Amino acid sequence: MELIKKTALVLGATGLIGKELVNILSENGQYQKVHLLVRRPIEVKSEVCEVHFVEYDKLHNYSELFQVTDVFCCLGTTIKVAKTKEAFRKVDYEYPVEAARIAKESGVEKFLIVSSMGADSKSIFFYSQVKGDVEESLYKVNLPSLHIFRPSLLLGKREEFRFGEKVAEKVSGMLNKLMIGPLRPYRGIQARKVAAAMAFVAQSSKKGKQIYLSHEIDSMVGFVE
Ligand SMILES: NC(=O)c1ccc[n+]([C@@H]2O[C@H](COP(=O)([O-])OP(=O)(O)OC[C@H]3O[C@@H](n4cnc5c(N)ncnc54)[C@H](OP(=O)(O)O)[C@@H]3O)[C@@H](O)[C@H]2O)c1
Repeated sequence: MELIKKTALVLGATGLIGKELVNILSENGQYQKVHLLVRRPIEVKSEVCEVHFVEYDKLHNYSELFQVTDVFCCLGTTIKVAKTKEAFRKVDYEYPVEAARIAKESGVEKFLIVSSMGADSKSIFFYSQVKGDVEESLYKVNLPSLHIFRPSLLLGKREEFRFGEKVAEKVSGMLNKLMIGPLRPYRGIQARKVAAAMAFVAQSSKKGKQIYLSHEIDSMVGFVE
């Protein structure tokens, strides 16, 4: 008997993690359809993927696309790109929360999101505060199965040049092997590992809220290089 395949929707499919995730979901044989909600073209190699150009400010207009089993949210920006705190918050807080609400209304089984190490609504750092806020608001949406990934510095090839991250990546490359014991959670992590962990967790039947710290993500998919 053939297993009934799942369906997915990916927000942030053109990003560092998003692209890796799309490759995995289109090849792992678990999904019959993967909807990608984008605002710029993306090259897709699999017919499993369906690209939709959307206005993120009007996510509700696309609620029919949320009739899927799993929603993956890899959205994010930087203050440098967003320019203002409000614009940053829109991408890292408002869009994910709106997506979660639509997912809940649509009966989505799993909602998986990339947050960040240090997410804390009481943090003195704006970035960590927004990540903490988004996590807390997602709990309130009361999704049947919510999975939050909190990676440390992401490693991987980016289209956009980010000076700070590039320096941190170089340092992390030198120090990663020395970061053992209590320092292990601070090791940089390959974006494709985070994506692989998301795809892996999507196959589990865990209900409720789960948080995965960076070293836990790493151990979950230690086989991914
Ligand atoms: N960088 C790190 O070291 C690090 C560490 C821990 C956690 N994180 C978090 O991990 C998540 C994923 O990071 P990443 O590096 O993979 O992200 P990324 O490469 O910057 O990609 C972000 C995605 O969000 C989309 N996006 C940005 N602004 C948007 C807007 N205004 N409207 C609609 N879509 C928008 C981008 O679409 P376009 O391609 O159209 O711009 C892209 O698909 C983020 O939440 C980030 O905060 C990052």
